Amino acid sequence: MYGSAERGEVPQAALRASLGCGNPIAVAELREGEVVLDLGSGGGIDVILSARRVGPTGTAYGLDMTDEMLALARQNACDAGVGNVHFLKGVIEQIPLPAGSVDVVISNCVINLSSDKAAVLTEIARVLKPGGRVGVSDVVAEDQLTQQQRAERGSFVGCIAGALSKREYLDGLQAAGFDDVSVEFTHEVADGMHGAIVRAIKTRAPERRGLPVIQAAASAGCC
Ligand SMILES: C[S@@+](CC[C@H](N)C(=O)[O-])C[C@H]1O[C@@H](n2cnc3c(N)ncnc32)[C@H](O)[C@@H]1O
Repeated sequence: MYGSAERGEVPQAALRASLGCGNPIAVAELREGEVVLDLGSGGGIDVILSARRVGPTGTAYGLDMTDEMLALARQNACDAGVGNVHFLKGVIEQIPLPAGSVDVVISNCVINLSSDKAAVLTEIARVLKPGGRVGVSDVVAEDQLTQQQRAERGSFVGCIAGALSKREYLDGLQAAGFDDVSVEFTHEVADGMHGAIVRAIKTRAPERRGLPVIQAAASAGCC
């Protein structure tokens, strides 16, 4: 899903660790000076690409729950020579950043893995600034597929069984305070299930619920 120029911008180890289902950088339209947050940053590929696009006056945060992926991402960012990155330990259901602190939230094949997607969408709305935007790649099911039919097509950890349907994604984003929401299928990954690009703009306060901000160990890139 990444072009040859993008592949050339990241260390081989970051490319090898890539476990996404799309290229959120291609849709996020990142600008110099912006603050970007990648939910479930894994080996750090999208954080490194974001850091280059927002430049030294911007910041790219990666959030992941596993020490192993955080260590790999920090090493990859160091090898890539990007200093404007911070990798945070935490869960995407309780994002360890203050309200209204982020311009763009990206994510690559992670939201389907959450067992509380309403919390994730509400948390995205909380951390975004007014007018902030979402550019996410995820697996999304066609609306006619029941939960059981999705589970028949693949496992939860395989990013299939936990996928939202297109309607569920659109409704969830609207309930969380987003407008201009869209879910665009890009490629089929199983019968009736697709890699998709999810876009939205935050224009309102979240309606569903607010979640407490948790303390998380933040550390700058190692360089
Ligand atoms: C399928 S991989 C995708 C990694 C990365 N986005 C990429 O494109 O290569 C999922 C990543 O999300 C992390 N993850 C899964 N559920 C999470 C959660 N609820 N909170 C934080 N991180 C999570 C995992 O540790 C893993 O690194």
